[in-house]
Amino acid sequence: MDIKIEKHDVVIVGAGLAGCAAARECQKAGLKTVVLTKLHPLRSHSGAAQGGINAALNEEDTSLHEFDTVKGSDYIGDQDAIELMCKKAPETIRWIERMGAVFSRTDDGKIAQRPFGGQSKPRACYAKDRTGLTLLQTIYEQARREGVLFLDEWYVCDIIYKDGKVSGVVAYNLRDMEFRLFNAKAVMFATGGYARAYKINSNALANTGDGLSIVARHGLPLEDMEFVQFHPTGLSGTGILISEAARGEGGLLYNSLGERFMGKYAPQKMELASRDVVSRAITKEVMEGRGVGPNKDSVYIDLTHLGEEVINAKLPELRDLAITFLGLDMVKEPILIQATAHYSMGGIPTDINGHVRKNINETVEGFYAAGECACVSVHGANRLGANSVLEALFFGRHVGEQMAAEVGNISFRAANAEDAKAAVAEVEGILHSRGQESVTKLRNELQESMTLNAGVFRTQKTLEAQKEILKELRERFKNISISDKSKTFNTELQEAIELGHMLDFSAFIVEGALNRKESRGAHYREDYPQRDDENFLKHTFAYMENDNIRLELAPVKLGKFAPETRSY
Ligand code: FUM
Repeated sequence: MDIKIEKHDVVIVGAGLAGCAAARECQKAGLKTVVLTKLHPLRSHSGAAQGGINAALNEEDTSLHEFDTVKGSDYIGDQDAIELMCKKAPETIRWIERMGAVFSRTDDGKIAQRPFGGQSKPRACYAKDRTGLTLLQTIYEQARREGVLFLDEWYVCDIIYKDGKVSGVVAYNLRDMEFRLFNAKAVMFATGGYARAYKINSNALANTGDGLSIVARHGLPLEDMEFVQFHPTGLSGTGILISEAARGEGGLLYNSLGERFMGKYAPQKMELASRDVVSRAITKEVMEGRGVGPNKDSVYIDLTHLGEEVINAKLPELRDLAITFLGLDMVKEPILIQATAHYSMGGIPTDINGHVRKNINETVEGFYAAGECACVSVHGANRLGANSVLEALFFGRHVGEQMAAEVGNISFRAANAEDAKAAVAEVEGILHSRGQESVTKLRNELQESMTLNAGVFRTQKTLEAQKEILKELRERFKNISISDKSKTFNTELQEAIELGHMLDFSAFIVEGALNRKESRGAHYREDYPQRDDENFLKHTFAYMENDNIRLELAPVKLGKFAPETRSY
């Protein structure tokens, strides 16, 4: 087989905040670094983060930031990683600001901070409601300035994993389907999240969890996949994000009876309880018949009392989104929202320095991960708003520094064309599929059934039903049809490959959720409504073995905050 082979010190897959931050550090340290991304970097989903990035700018607040994060995680966030991230948060803000990120300011010129859910103090630093985009533009520009090579619109289809070591990736150019093998001393995955497995979600079309399934297909573990975050405020019908900044700035939630219903669910924090609590409250109101909108599947968020000036100054993007997609102007009327699948707490397990785990005790040489695809477990069972942008930027930089320090000790192993053969054959096999099943239909069935059976509320019955559905969908996937046989921007082929990934990682979500017979954070079992620390103060490690998923439970890194009852 003829395939072009490239040699780099570091290959990074994904060009969101984590990928760009790591790439900048590696290149700055003199390493030849390439970033492969299936998009243009500025279309990475990090750019969709709206409301803010947390930091205790008053450093006395750091310990409380740690506590809020541990409590938000329902006590299974790893406290060593949480401590590191929260301690480094103020420095991370100064670092990105000095590279050019323009934050909104207070009247006396300080970086402005707004309240977010589940937090004791306002600590989300923001750039209006375009925080992620501002940060992404800055870090991308700085990575290019250092000389990082970005290969846009390259689709990574596999890793080279042999003898316990990752030494490269196989990718193809979406423009013409040219395959290439990228050998490297270190490979980092920063491939983002997986909420596209759900029908109503806030994620970019690209968030199909490719990185996770690629890793899992090699028998490597995924961690805590059952914890999928539902953001309380997605635009009704589409799930497009209406930032938590809307509630942070004073947005109020109402049901069809005109009740400000959060009083029943979180009497102290009300709308500013953590995301899992507010999403469940909204979904419950709808399930019990107090929903609004044409399908009675939504509730209102009212921002009219803020007035036009404040809305235009602080939430202009949200106003535009609601006008464009719902025809509702939040200056004049309440808008319709519903819970939307938003974020993946689980992912590729790593240690605190981004080394990918081979199992609970060992790591894989030459392989790193950071950002939403990774599970260093700073979010545990539920992430606090504005901690993801922090995680991506801080751990992206940190893991980049780590790679820069370690690459000198990693020997280069040149994979050859033979090593890429299976990955190329797999893609070409999909391209030549001539079966009966439609990819779009299978994807719709996946998204609808995951929402129904493995969504905000779950039971043994719904999860078992979903396990069967997934088995059937994975079988039908073997019989798909691809009508476009061309090699130029073949999106039909790409969507089919992505669907294969979605079907695989969804099986991990369901298996983890079936096994976790308790309710914790975003994972709510109606048949086990209590948290069970005795049996489940543990991480889930899951391995794909011959189409089945094998689970083991791993210890949580506890620390100064002992588990206690969590209420808001
Ligand atoms: O609500 C938001 O602005 C989203 C931020 C986040 O998920 O951290």
